[in-house]
Amino acid sequence: MNILGIESSCDDTGLAIVDSSGHVLAHVTSSQHEIHAKYGGIVPELASRDHVKKFIPLLDFLLSKADMKIDEIEMIAFTNGPGLLGPLLAGASLAKALGWSRNIPTIEVNHLEAHVYSPMITENNLKPPFISLLVSGGHTLLSVVDKNSVIKNLGTTLDDSAGECFDKVARKLGLGYPGGPEIARRSEGVKNNKFSFPRPMINSDSYDFSFSGLKTHVINAIQKIELSDENINNISFELQDAIVETLISKSLKASQDYKIENIVITGGVSANKRLREKFSALSNSNVFFPDVRYSTDNGAMIAYAGFLKSQSSSIEINFKIKPNPSLSL
Ligand code: KG4
Ligand code: ZN
Repeated sequence: MNILGIESSCDDTGLAIVDSSGHVLAHVTSSQHEIHAKYGGIVPELASRDHVKKFIPLLDFLLSKADMKIDEIEMIAFTNGPGLLGPLLAGASLAKALGWSRNIPTIEVNHLEAHVYSPMITENNLKPPFISLLVSGGHTLLSVVDKNSVIKNLGTTLDDSAGECFDKVARKLGLGYPGGPEIARRSEGVKNNKFSFPRPMINSDSYDFSFSGLKTHVINAIQKIELSDENINNISFELQDAIVETLISKSLKASQDYKIENIVITGGVSANKRLREKFSALSNSNVFFPDVRYSTDNGAMIAYAGFLKSQSSSIEINFKIKPNPSLSL
């Protein structure tokens, strides 16, 4: 059973094929970063149009990479939410049109769940229960995934997500979009950092996060200094450490409180090298990250989530299109 995965919830067009054991046969991603960079954020209409433009050439490329014909696809998994309505509609329309023309099932996938299970694509021995920290541009979600894969949310951000904090400070520093990778790049090699930023809510008993105060603190600091390369690098370093240490502290607390050793960190921010290094160095827990290719939005995690769904429930054929931009975990 070859499953085609389609991701188009935001500004990345991702397509992938997994086989009957969930193994990724091929995956392709096309980023729209250059289109949106000059606006400092995503323009939904431009995002939708670019998905529509890229889908068919990308699908051809994907099939050639997998050395496969479209007739060999037997099921389609696509992102049904959360995300931007136009981009979601574009992906759903492609999925349903392909499904209808071939009379094969189309599986709706929750984009957040796909992130949560993304480390299992390459970590063959990983399975629930685990503590899940999902850190992306839109979400900062700490949860327990029990042995039956039932997800219980422990905490979330009360304001900005971790990714948003990276992106908004990066914009103030005159760095490109998305900000996380730029901040990470600027932090490399910093030795004598002279800034000190707060680690929000790390002494609170709650599992919630709050990154808006940190963002304002850093933006105020930026306004008082000259934006030299050295200052930009130092601020990037300290911001990255403040976010990383906050994420680690809350995840460890959940792991200790719930006596669950395995911690799974996913979403775009999980691509952060410093987060990966610090987590491995600090913690006695078993920490799992997705392969970096599957950290930011991609079609492989959607195809894989479709594979998991097809294993646990029967899939019926229906061609209704009903994306849900505000779907939650
Ligand atoms: O999961 P994702 O690709 O899209 C959403 O579903 O939101 O996450 C995008 C977020 C952006 O905020 C981006 O700045 C951040 O992930 N990000 C990073 C890194 N790569 C992407 N943040 C820190 N370090 C990175 N290397
Ligand atoms: Zn995402």
